Amino acid sequence: MSKQRISVLISGGGSNLAAIIAAVENKTLNLEIAQVIADRDCAGKQHAFKANLPFVLLDRKLPDFTKRLNEAVLDVDLVVLAGFLSVIPPELVERFPKKMINLHPSLLPKFGGMGMYGMKVHQAVLAAGETVSGCSVHFVDTGVDTGEVIAQAQVPVLADDSPETLAKRVQAQEHTLLVNTIKALCH
Ligand code: GRF
Repeated sequence: MSKQRISVLISGGGSNLAAIIAAVENKTLNLEIAQVIADRDCAGKQHAFKANLPFVLLDRKLPDFTKRLNEAVLDVDLVVLAGFLSVIPPELVERFPKKMINLHPSLLPKFGGMGMYGMKVHQAVLAAGETVSGCSVHFVDTGVDTGEVIAQAQVPVLADDSPETLAKRVQAQEHTLLVNTIKALCH
């Protein structure tokens, strides 16, 4: 049987992309990364180059960005949003029912939704006085961070945490959570 294929969409540093690539290389994941797509020039592209993966750079500021994005995504088995910051257009969501997943750095449904990304999430967690935070992988629907949660990992929030120290602790969990979820979905 031929290997399942995934697309990975990124906007930032690409540490989660790097974790997926490493998992493919060490055979934790038995699949093919068919393409990496970025919606802006970002450091994460280096991981795609180093692994010789097909890479598509789109400009999220162009008026026909959503059309280009929809055209760029191949008919893969799973689309992985690994720190992708653009909202996915409904026509693309509809192509991948329960076949598109997103990683979010909080315990959804807490601290999700429009404008809740990156450090803003961790700032909000600290401001709310939470004692536990974490990360979630969820299916993508046409809302923002509203799709069914598939898996979560928890971390403690420490009394002297800054958004940065909390982000680091959460991110250490994200890589394993994302790889394990992809493994569970692609078999
Ligand atoms: C992660 O914190 C993820 O939860 C969020 O964006 C960040 C991406 O980090 N959606 P990286 O680009 O994979 O390093």
